Amino acid sequence: MLSCKNINKSYSDGNNKINVLNNINLNILEGETLAIIGASGSGKSTLLHVLSSLDAADSGKIEIDGELISSFDENRLCQIRLNKIGFIYQFHHLINELSVKENISLPLLIANKNKSEIEKKTDEVIDQVGMKKRKDFQIDKLSGGERQRVAIARSIVHNPSILFADEPTGNLDKNNANNIFSLLSDLVSYNKSILIMATHDLEIASKLNEVLKIDGGNLKNI
Ligand SMILES: Nc1ncnc2c1ncn2[C@@H]1O[C@H](COP(=O)(O)OP(=O)(O)O)[C@@H](O)[C@H]1O
Ligand SMILES: [Mg+2]
Repeated sequence: MLSCKNINKSYSDGNNKINVLNNINLNILEGETLAIIGASGSGKSTLLHVLSSLDAADSGKIEIDGELISSFDENRLCQIRLNKIGFIYQFHHLINELSVKENISLPLLIANKNKSEIEKKTDEVIDQVGMKKRKDFQIDKLSGGERQRVAIARSIVHNPSILFADEPTGNLDKNNANNIFSLLSDLVSYNKSILIMATHDLEIASKLNEVLKIDGGNLKNI
């Protein structure tokens, strides 16, 4: 379960303070999927970064599975990220010099898993995202859709209970976007993980359990 209470986040832009998140409250149960929509610059990425502990809120509380992670130090946050959180970006953020397989196994290497477990789990997710034939390819030899498949595989290889996706289909054509979204949604339902996805695409958003709009720093039902 993921919940947050009274989350505030602002950025300062020279002399001005921009309030990006204003008293955000959320409660998301295991297996639930949530779409966050909103205009460009409305704070979707900021919200995802704060909820996933990639960025700190100015104030407020965040709980994951009963643990108050907003009070954790960097060491404990690292453990939470390695064990419970997956993140997919719009522009994949894969390492071009590494192969598909090497990119996907990175979270397991960082988590110090043993070699045979890394092999087994990496092969399993490569298969799940349909990239078996390309597993030794370098990232820059792949199409946009294929890169997103690899990014999805990397985000789920450590069995996270919460998956964040920041406009994961935003850089793809319609056909690829639909394919990537259905892959993501199959994997989320198979793993019973929470999905929190920022998207511009209302058609895709409406396929999730809940759609909330961020506007003026607040989350609203649409
Ligand atoms: N690191 C930062 N420093 C200063 N301002 C930022 C930073 N990150 C985001 N912002 C500002 O916060 C607002 C929300 O940005 P963002 O969360 O990226 O919106 P979205 O993802 O909805 O497009 C924007 O006005 C953006 O310029
Ligand atoms: Mg964004």
